[in-house]
Amino acid sequence: MTVKTNFIDVEEPGVAVITGASSGIGQSFARILSSQGFDLVITARRKNRLEALASELKQKDGITVEIMTGDLSQPEFMDQVASYIETIENLDVLVNNAGFGTLENYISKESNISAFMTMLNLHCGAIVRLMHAGLKVMRKNERGVIFNISSIASLTLHGSREPMYHATKAFVSAFTEMVQLKLNFIKSKVKLKSICPGNTHTEIFGPAAIATPGRFGGPMSPEEVVNIALNSYKNKDIIVITGDHNIDEVMEWREAAYNKPGRYFSKEFTKSGLYKKL
Ligand SMILES: NC(=O)c1ccc[n+]([C@@H]2O[C@H](COP(=O)([O-])OP(=O)(O)OC[C@H]3O[C@@H](n4cnc5c(N)ncnc54)[C@H](OP(=O)(O)O)[C@@H]3O)[C@@H](O)[C@H]2O)c1
Repeated sequence: MTVKTNFIDVEEPGVAVITGASSGIGQSFARILSSQGFDLVITARRKNRLEALASELKQKDGITVEIMTGDLSQPEFMDQVASYIETIENLDVLVNNAGFGTLENYISKESNISAFMTMLNLHCGAIVRLMHAGLKVMRKNERGVIFNISSIASLTLHGSREPMYHATKAFVSAFTEMVQLKLNFIKSKVKLKSICPGNTHTEIFGPAAIATPGRFGGPMSPEEVVNIALNSYKNKDIIVITGDHNIDEVMEWREAAYNKPGRYFSKEFTKSGLYKKL
């Protein structure tokens, strides 16, 4: 195989596993990693999309592509993908990306619980399961990176937003950070990143959805998000907010939340100004 330039600067790029590769950010990861010479394992429910992508990338980049089709919110499919990951001796990249948004309202009397349980299983369960499998191989090789696709939603908990989406993404960022800190503690070379995009032009609200600019800017293209994620490999950041306008949004929200008495600390504590010293 021809040696190509790749974001981890290795002579022989290994395998990248990408969940939710049938559209949006996952598909961009697949295209960009394929162009850098990584062999791929791609998963999603829409088999026809995965097959079309696989044949395009095999032909264009001369890589191998394995397809795994299934619903990753289901424990059986999580186990199947995790068991396969454990057999990939040269696993270099795992992208836990599959996810979705919902217009259901958790506190509405009419809301259906199934969308929320699916989201909990997919956004949290699948990441816990697959990251565990990926780490087994990567720790053995002392090489590799896991990108968990979170969101700026993990850092901005607004009352106007959907609680389950924000809370599951908050789990993704917190869990990624805790596991990375544990890896740092044992001086492991394996890297974890919680990638936090803001509004990105994908199919998240349907194949025909058009992302509109927000107050702070955007929407970004999925390619921009992926390039920021890959560039972050070379730095020590664990929580990677994609784009300055998204950082501005997070900062404004944090400032407002921390200045609101009763939100983060007791009223007395907040009033004393002690929280500012933390
Ligand atoms: N777009 C944004 O503005 C934005 C912002 C912040 C974070 N994110 C996050 O970015 C990630 C990718 O989303 P996207 O924006 O690229 O949206 P997208 O274009 O809708 O892609 C979502 C991917 O996840 C897969 N998926 C969804 N449910 C699944 C399930 N139950 N089992 C297996 N695969 C499933 C979809 O494939 P199938 O339908 O074929 O299964 C698809 O490949 C998500 O985690 C999302 O929360 C997006």
